[in-house]
Amino acid sequence: MDTVECIMNRMSIRKFKDESVPKDKLMEVIGLAQRSPSYKNTQPWEVVVISGTKKEALSSRLAELLDSGKEARPDLPAPQSWPKAEGERIEALFKKRFELTGIDLSAPEVVKKAKNLNFHFYGAPHAIYLFQDSSLSEWSLFDLGLFAQTLMLAAHANGLGTVPQAFATDYSEDVKDFLGIPQSKRLVLGISIGYPDMESPANSFRTERDKTDNIVSWLE
Ligand SMILES: Cc1cc2nc3c(=O)[nH]c(=O)nc-3n(C[C@H](O)[C@H](O)[C@H](O)COP(=O)(O)O)c2cc1C
Repeated sequence: MDTVECIMNRMSIRKFKDESVPKDKLMEVIGLAQRSPSYKNTQPWEVVVISGTKKEALSSRLAELLDSGKEARPDLPAPQSWPKAEGERIEALFKKRFELTGIDLSAPEVVKKAKNLNFHFYGAPHAIYLFQDSSLSEWSLFDLGLFAQTLMLAAHANGLGTVPQAFATDYSEDVKDFLGIPQSKRLVLGISIGYPDMESPANSFRTERDKTDNIVSWLE
């Protein structure tokens, strides 16, 4: 697939086909993500892939924690406020989604439902969790972001769909316990991965971007 086509057509996928991805294909995609650049080539990424009954059990555990009212404590705390421009983009996203799907992402009961879908990895056959040592600096966090994007583009180029999920890290301590990952690691992101179900209305929603003119200053 052409690079521009890959960048333009990747989108967050929120409904997957009920079909597992062969392990060697997932390993190929993760191997491509390893080509991402990193600060002094430190490669500060650790990956756990979870599938099958193990994934189902984790989903049940996360849904139970949500039902119990346990407070979310992700290793990277959710932002409590946003600067003006970013806040307006969130509003625009919620408005468009509401108009197209009737889903009001600012309503608490809808957020709970949305979290449940996240905890069930939107029906994907596999979930990928990204970790790194907690002692690493913000540069390493930046590197892991590059890794995540390369992974999602490589997945798309291989006919796979993905969605990055901060929500999947809500109960980071429990996730680490479940996966047997030391608490000294930082859980950064969950990514659902599988074959996208493009017939589903859940995947009919495309997000917009600001005009390039609005984010670039030219000094000549
Ligand atoms: C760091 C990060 C965290 C995200 N967390 C979630 C999440 O918890 N659940 C979800 O459904 N989408 C999540 N998303 C997906 C964004 O909503 C999505 O990338 C954005 O709206 C742009 O849409 P696109 O990916 O289709 O281009 C996340 C994206 C990023 C980069």
